[in-house]
Amino acid sequence: MGQRPITFLRQTMLKLLVSGEGRSRTGVMIPIPQYPLYSAGIAELNAVQVNYYLDEEQCWALDVGELRRALSQAREHCQPRVLCIINPGNPTGQVQSRKCIEDVIKFAWEEQLFLMADEVYQDNVYAEGSEFHSFKKVLFELGPMYSSVVELVSFHSISKGFMGECGFRGGYMEVVNLDPAVQQQLSKLVSEKQAVLSDLAHKAQLTQEIFSPVPGIRCNPVQGAMYSFPRIQIPARAAQEAQARGFAPDMFFCLQLLEETGICVVPGSGFGQREGTYHFR
Ligand SMILES: Cc1ncc(COP(=O)(O)O)c(C=O)c1O
Repeated sequence: MGQRPITFLRQTMLKLLVSGEGRSRTGVMIPIPQYPLYSAGIAELNAVQVNYYLDEEQCWALDVGELRRALSQAREHCQPRVLCIINPGNPTGQVQSRKCIEDVIKFAWEEQLFLMADEVYQDNVYAEGSEFHSFKKVLFELGPMYSSVVELVSFHSISKGFMGECGFRGGYMEVVNLDPAVQQQLSKLVSEKQAVLSDLAHKAQLTQEIFSPVPGIRCNPVQGAMYSFPRIQIPARAAQEAQARGFAPDMFFCLQLLEETGICVVPGSGFGQREGTYHFR
């Protein structure tokens, strides 16, 4: 689901998951060291960042004991609901073992945490004996007791993994066990095309509503495309003044409009129009 940069998709998921005030504000567990867009995203939503520390002595492994510590401390001041995992890790470069992933899933099940698995580096596994295991695969292999309950979103990106592809942002996510009502909201939030088109339709409507009552402007309904081409009446004296300055009358109008209001429109004379009529786009 979704074809936007992971950063956008992840933030959209978090938006759906964060709620509450004070001690009931949502806590989001993230690894430390972390990829800084996690803490930035959490801060933007005013959620509570809950740090769990990766174990440098164990090649930056994720230890469930540390998750328990972080969770129980966080429960004193917030409502931890989300557990983020970055595997393989940024900036730490570790690859989680299958056993560790199983433990994390069981922990999320016990504690009713929503799992967010950032797996954008899944093709980048170098060490002998290390292998990438997706959270989804392990979840389903653990059997229905877990796979029918644990809520999981997995992220993968096409902007990472091979070169510094940072300019080509795009990725996708897959959600498992999301409440259908929440899934519906999510679909709305990530369906960019529909949002853009309905925004444009709203602006088209606004354009004709604003122009219609203005004396001297006649605007047809904006049925499509991205433009309107209202007709303007230009008084004879203004047309003469324009001619004296060497401008087409609607060009003169557009320049005056720009200077007096900062609004930039394009004169109809640039597109062609019936003799004696004036427009702008
Ligand atoms: C762990 C991790 N997740 C996500 C991203 C960003 O992915 P995208 O470019 O699709 O937003 C990065 C980028 O560095 C990353 O390191």
